[in-house]
Amino acid sequence: MSDTRALAFCSRVLTEILDNQPSFSSRVAEISNLPRTQRVGTPPGTPTVATHGSSPEKTGMASLLWRLSRAAMLPAAVGATMMANSATMPKSEPAVKAQAWDSLFRLDQEKSIAGKVALVTGCSSGIGKATACMLATAGCELVLVARREDKLSELKGEILKRQPSAKVTVVVGDVCTDAFYETLKAQQLHTKVDILIANAGLAVGKDNIGAASDGDWEQMMSANCMGAFRLINLCLPEMVKNGGGHIVATGSIAGMESYEGGSVYCASKHALHAFMKSLRFETYSKNVRVTVLAPGLVGEGTEFSEVRFKGDASKASATYQNIRELKASDCAAQILWALRQPDHVNVDLLQLMPTAQGGATRLHRGG
Ligand SMILES: NC(=O)c1ccc[n+]([C@@H]2O[C@H](COP(=O)([O-])OP(=O)(O)OC[C@H]3O[C@@H](n4cnc5c(N)ncnc54)[C@H](OP(=O)(O)O)[C@@H]3O)[C@@H](O)[C@H]2O)c1
Repeated sequence: MSDTRALAFCSRVLTEILDNQPSFSSRVAEISNLPRTQRVGTPPGTPTVATHGSSPEKTGMASLLWRLSRAAMLPAAVGATMMANSATMPKSEPAVKAQAWDSLFRLDQEKSIAGKVALVTGCSSGIGKATACMLATAGCELVLVARREDKLSELKGEILKRQPSAKVTVVVGDVCTDAFYETLKAQQLHTKVDILIANAGLAVGKDNIGAASDGDWEQMMSANCMGAFRLINLCLPEMVKNGGGHIVATGSIAGMESYEGGSVYCASKHALHAFMKSLRFETYSKNVRVTVLAPGLVGEGTEFSEVRFKGDASKASATYQNIRELKASDCAAQILWALRQPDHVNVDLLQLMPTAQGGATRLHRGG
């Protein structure tokens, strides 16, 4: 706004005030009639303030602003009139709704996921198995995926023992193969998934770059990345068509921090985290919730370290020596918590570690 237009605008505002507040204008007039020396803060050379009915002299912004600031120093008369007026004005709604007291005192704010169809990969063991069990308790219909049929049958049996009316479908398959996706499509299982837990994955070996095996690297990239990517790619369009859903991927602290001996495992989990971020950006407008679980050291209930050290039991058990690591069920409980949040809440990242772990390689083995 130019100086001249700003001046004209201020002038209109001031005139309006003076026209509507007679007591205010008489106070202004009073100040105007004081000798210049008694008008505290008067800039030198400032003309007197225009009285009611006249327009202020056009002597520049500084002078006019001073007049307005003088006017603002008359809160008693103006304020009282305004308060009297506001008492008679209709009350408007608050801009942001207040929460009811009862809702603030409730500990359990979680919603039911009973009846939802949940597909879980890697549930013959560990985090996936614990998650499948909790999903069964929550009343979900289950599609259980892993390569070992006997383990899946055992899991199905345990679920049905506790939830005889549960619907459980077992898919024996390898998430790295085309055959697995063909099986899902043939049975139309991908079309009805409300909750997808892309959990199947593994670390193989802990060798430094230069000494590691290409085969180990391929297995990790294939299962941890392509296995999750392809499954999500297949299920997402149907989920969107059905009005929404929730996709959870088991990432890792290794997807946030790299460490020696973990190059490709860390790379695979970093890639998975990046993929899930893109997924989040692509689906937040589609009622699809996206969560990454990023645990630190998880031992009890898993075969993770046995797989990593290729069956070397002493190396596997040394991983958890003198430290109270996370259990598979600790992770599953976090997944269930995220799934059971109200529909408008998306838990983007669940990063959890044992209390005695400060980072990927910071472990306090205190007993
Ligand atoms: N344990 C930890 O410290 C830890 C920490 C952070 C993240 N994670 C991640 O958590 C996830 C679960 O691991 P976990 O600790 O529970 O280990 P786990 O007990 O060894 O479980 C791994 C599961 O993945 C399945 N799986 C592996 N490759 C598969 C494939 N190609 N196709 C289908 N299923 C496959 C395994 O079943 P089958 O062998 O029967 O196929 C098994 O059910 C993994 O993604 C892992 O990277 C683990």
